[in-house]
Amino acid sequence: MLPEYAFIGRSNVGKSSLINMLTSKKGLAKTSQTPGKTQLINHFLINEDWYIVDLPGYGYAKVSRSSREEWERFIRYYLKNRESLQCVFVLVDSRLEPQMADLKFCSWLGEQGIPFLLAFTKADKQSNFKTLQNVEKFKVALLDYFEELPQIFITSAEKRDGREEILTAIDDINKN
Ligand code: GTP
Ligand code: MG
Repeated sequence: MLPEYAFIGRSNVGKSSLINMLTSKKGLAKTSQTPGKTQLINHFLINEDWYIVDLPGYGYAKVSRSSREEWERFIRYYLKNRESLQCVFVLVDSRLEPQMADLKFCSWLGEQGIPFLLAFTKADKQSNFKTLQNVEKFKVALLDYFEELPQIFITSAEKRDGREEILTAIDDINKN
């Protein structure tokens, strides 16, 4: 099985947009201003060599509680059991102060021993200073759960920032 990299984060954080930016294919992953667009586990084969996996966002309030819980169980099952999964990219909205849902999800990944990287999204939406401030606060909050911090990327799907860095990181993991 080819290696795969899952992209996950709260609904509307910009997962599908980041995937399109990384692959340079605009309509590949469907994006939307309405949260909850991605409802399936979608695999995208890159260079006939590895997969990007677009997952539905967590914490989407508009679907019923029971179907949300079912989805979360499904995603957690996938993340825990998928042998070809190399690591998870957790996407975090760079405009926001640390959110409990994101911290809890990272901490769950840590408990399960699932390696993850952090990608802060939508950095074009505010000043670099503000972005870095939120990233710094997130790091501090993560240190409540972890001794070591994961690799961090600051991205903008709009400006194509962070593309080379993320693709290089994936390349490096694929080579090992
Ligand atoms: P779900 O599949 O619903 O969980 O959402 P998602 O995380 O896949 O988000 P999606 O990529 O659909 O983007 C949500 C909205 O944010 C869309 O309107 C995007 O155009 C916008 N967006 C995503 N990334 C960026 C970015 O880097 N900059 C800006 N300015 N807007 C972005
Ligand atoms: Mg999506």
